[in-house]
This record gives sequence, structure tokens and C-alpha cells, in this order.
Amino acid sequence: MSVSGDRAELATLVTSLRRHLQRQQRVGIRFIAQGEAPPKDSLSDIDENLLSGTESDLFSDSSETYQAKTLEELRAVIGDCQRCKLGSGRTHIVFGVGNPKAKLMFIGEGPGRDEDLQGEPFVGRAGQLLTDIITKGMGLRREDVYIANVVKCRPPENRNPEPDEVASCEPFLKKQIDLVRPEIIIALGKFAVQALLQSKVPITKLRGNWHSYHGIKLMPTFHPAYLLRNPGDKKLVWEDIKKVIKEINGENA
Ligand code: URA
Repeated sequence: MSVSGDRAELATLVTSLRRHLQRQQRVGIRFIAQGEAPPKDSLSDIDENLLSGTESDLFSDSSETYQAKTLEELRAVIGDCQRCKLGSGRTHIVFGVGNPKAKLMFIGEGPGRDEDLQGEPFVGRAGQLLTDIITKGMGLRREDVYIANVVKCRPPENRNPEPDEVASCEPFLKKQIDLVRPEIIIALGKFAVQALLQSKVPITKLRGNWHSYHGIKLMPTFHPAYLLRNPGDKKLVWEDIKKVIKEINGENA
């Protein structure tokens, strides 16, 4: 693995470990025993669910995240989030918008300036392009789909989100997907694809092909902001979107 890959993995582990310890503290565990494990009975007043995670989360995020039953509950769990260093610089947390039962979910990278000010994803120039893809290209309304980002707070000066920031926000994105349960995800750009597929393969290689995110069909394509800089690649995105339209219409069966 490369040095940056090692660093990213380390950052993810440190964030996960920190959260794990915070969670333990919340349920009353203040030290880690070094001797034998305590008898099981001594844990009986602790809700076991609070300590359980999922197979994909070695040290799962806070139990409240996993226990949220609705998007509103999940939003409440996030609260006035300061779990990572993006918290101090944001105006609004940009949680997500759209139909909570959408069949199609778009996932971008993170809020830009307009999104940070308005608290809604994809409302700036790149957002206008995404809205055109949804409405003019796919014949849907923005309200029909669900739109979210990998990180929910704006990185300063629109820099790329850093591995610890992605790791901090990842449980919320996973839970959002779990609650919406879309049939199809369109991952917009490298950060969304990397976060969801845990892959370092470049977006240029991944786009246009179907992938699976825990059984949900996932189509990676270029990010609208990239298209604003490289309008010549709009035709590639249109090819990807046409595959999604076919899938929605059941024409790939
Ligand atoms: N870019 C993103 O990835 N997300 C937004 O919400 C806006 C711009």
C-alpha cells in the first residue's frame, strides 16, 4: 500500500478507535481492564445493543446512529456536530434532501459555499447542472430523488475532504443509505465512489459500469463540478445516465 493509503487507513482507525472509546465512556466504561474479563453478569445493566456494531465497522459508530429509524432521527443524532475539524468552519450542516423513499439516490462529495450557506446539497453551479441532469435528462423532479454528500460540512476553500473527515461522516452516510434504501445510487466523482466502494481505482475506470454497494446497484459517474471544468466529458455522463434510465425502466432485464 502507498504511504497516503497507509495514512488514510491509520486516520480511519484512529477516528474509529476514538469514537469507540467515547461510546464506551457514554455507557459508563471508564477504563480498560487488563486482567480477566469481568463476569457477564456485571454487564447486565448495560444495554448490549449499545456495544454492538456491524460486521463492516470494527469499532462501530455511536449506537444512536445505528438505532435511528428515520432520517429525522439520524439528523438529530448528528446534532451540532463537532466530531471532526470541519465542524468549526461551517455555517450549516448539509444533511441531505429529497424523497426519503427515493428509488434513486445521488451522492456527492461535500458542500460548497452555496450549500453551506443554504444548508441544502447541490444548489450552486454544479448543483444546477445536477438538477438539469435529473429534470431535463432523466425526466424526474429533484423531489423524486434523494441527494446527499460524503461529508456534511463544507471543507474550507472547497478543498478535498481529508481521510479523517470522511471517516467521521461515513457512518451517517451509510445510515442514510440504509434508511432511504434506494434501488440505485449514482456516485458523483471520486470521493463518493471511493467512500462507497472502498476502491482506489480512478473514477475514469469505474464510471459507466455497474457496481454493487451492499446489494444496491451503484453507477459511478463524473462529478458535475468536474463537468463544469471539462464540458467535453458531458457526453460520457450522459451515457452513464442513459444506463441508469434503462435500469429504472426495467429495460436491462
Ligand atoms: N459538490 C458536492 O459534491 N456536493 C454539493 O452539495 C455541492 C457541490
